[in-house]
Amino acid sequence: MKKHLVAPSILAADFANLQKEVTMINESEADWIHVDVMDGVFVPNFSLGIPVVEALKRHAAKPLDVHLMIVNPEHHVEAFRKAGADHITVHVEVCHHLQRNIQQIKGLGCKAGVAINPHTPISNLENIIAEVDQVIVMSVNPGFGGQKFLDITYQKVEQLKRLILKAASNAKIEIEGGVSLENAKGLLDAGADVLVAGNFVFSASDPTEVISKLKAV
Ligand code: DX5
Repeated sequence: MKKHLVAPSILAADFANLQKEVTMINESEADWIHVDVMDGVFVPNFSLGIPVVEALKRHAAKPLDVHLMIVNPEHHVEAFRKAGADHITVHVEVCHHLQRNIQQIKGLGCKAGVAINPHTPISNLENIIAEVDQVIVMSVNPGFGGQKFLDITYQKVEQLKRLILKAASNAKIEIEGGVSLENAKGLLDAGADVLVAGNFVFSASDPTEVISKLKAV
């Protein structure tokens, strides 16, 4: 049985000790390192940019899963690829030419993903699902870590799973926002493949142990 993946979100890490935090993830059972990029426009917050992705890459022994919560991502994907992104995900809500964005990301040799906000219907992905490697289902309104998980997510994951099977897509379903041991099993039962966790991991006294527990669900 295919094992689900765990991706700690660097957003909740100690930014003054990023090398130590990345080393912890490298030595843990985590599969990817999730990197949230916020531009203060698409979301009401700023997080990190190219120099931090470059610094993460110098120490990362696992794929950098870069989530662009930015407008006009087509202007920046090449720079994030050069900085070390292995996966790049853009938001369906900002991409007027999503099919072209996905082809651009794939053209850079990256895994390509699309992210969808809580209010956006899964049906918006019908004509692109067969072309993406992953879909980030936001289980909070993007912009801040540590928010409360939105229960609507379970039914959206079930809808997405049906869409993926109907389209014979290989897309992975990635859940982001308020993920914890409280909702992990329900999400995996609904069809999720990747669990992103920020505060639940980095606020723990033993983050490595929490990652193992999320992996063992
Ligand atoms: C919201 C952020 C967070 C982050 C995960 O825009 O993108 O969801 O990845 O942080 P937690 O797990 O604390 O919600």
